[in-house]
Amino acid sequence: MQLQGKVALVTGAGGGIGRAVVAAYLEAGASVVGFDRVAQEDAPGDPRRYRHVVGDVAEWADNRRAVDCAIEAFGGLDILVGNAGIYDDRFSFGDISGEALAEGFDQLFSVNVKGYMLGVHAALPALRERGGCVVFTSSISGRHAGFGGALYVAAKHAVNGLTRQLALELAPLVRVNAVAPGYVETGLQAPPDLTAKGAVPPPDPKRMLLGFLAAPSDIADAYVFLASGKSARNITGTILEIDGGSALRGPGA
Ligand SMILES: NC(=O)c1ccc[n+]([C@@H]2O[C@H](COP(=O)([O-])OP(=O)(O)OC[C@H]3O[C@@H](n4cnc5c(N)ncnc54)[C@H](O)[C@@H]3O)[C@@H](O)[C@H]2O)c1
Repeated sequence: MQLQGKVALVTGAGGGIGRAVVAAYLEAGASVVGFDRVAQEDAPGDPRRYRHVVGDVAEWADNRRAVDCAIEAFGGLDILVGNAGIYDDRFSFGDISGEALAEGFDQLFSVNVKGYMLGVHAALPALRERGGCVVFTSSISGRHAGFGGALYVAAKHAVNGLTRQLALELAPLVRVNAVAPGYVETGLQAPPDLTAKGAVPPPDPKRMLLGFLAAPSDIADAYVFLASGKSARNITGTILEIDGGSALRGPGA
């Protein structure tokens, strides 16, 4: 029960990684507000400690509404998990039209970068009040080329920069870290303008360095650790890579 009595807000809570983080937080004793553009019928744990807000992370007012929900339902906020994201299906930069690139940029950066910034800004007064923390979902694409297209890779590099800048600016009251997964089996999707090539097939588990494809539950504990008061109270500005060693061989291996 590492998060007993804590209150968390998790964006992208309706999908693979976000939903697993909600379940891990509930199991660790936290109360949780899930925030997603899609409605969620059932809480992935004790329903008395779960609320769901439907909204768009790219909209300031929706972020405020999600934070207000945490304060009204559970009395405050200790942990913000910025996680909602979309992919770019590794679109080919040289082949896409300028119009589709411009549209794709606005869509992907609105969710994957602006959504994270607005979330922290909306949560900041509440996080400062209780000495809270932020955990972002970055990616192997935050440091390495080839696991996404130009938009996704640029956006995840931006998330790593945002993690470090906010860690610097918000200390000592608020810690800011990120988890950077490699491939995880989820329903991660690209917006329509970037899907021309179709979805990227999952990697062959036999070709993975550790011999398996990660499920969301394989990485959710890292979000518990980074939000806990154990060694993590001394961790800020860190990008925790959980990629099964994929970066060692690169996307083509
Ligand atoms: N799946 C992977 O291999 C992988 C690897 C590294 C990083 N990630 C990152 O993990 C995060 C979660 O993705 P996932 O893989 O669980 O995919 P997912 O599609 O299963 O979950 C993403 C969730 O975000 C929600 N969402 C999307 N746009 C939104 C918006 N504008 N407002 C509110 N909610 C919105 C979706 O409805 C969905 O429930 C993303 O940031 C993604 O970039 C995924």
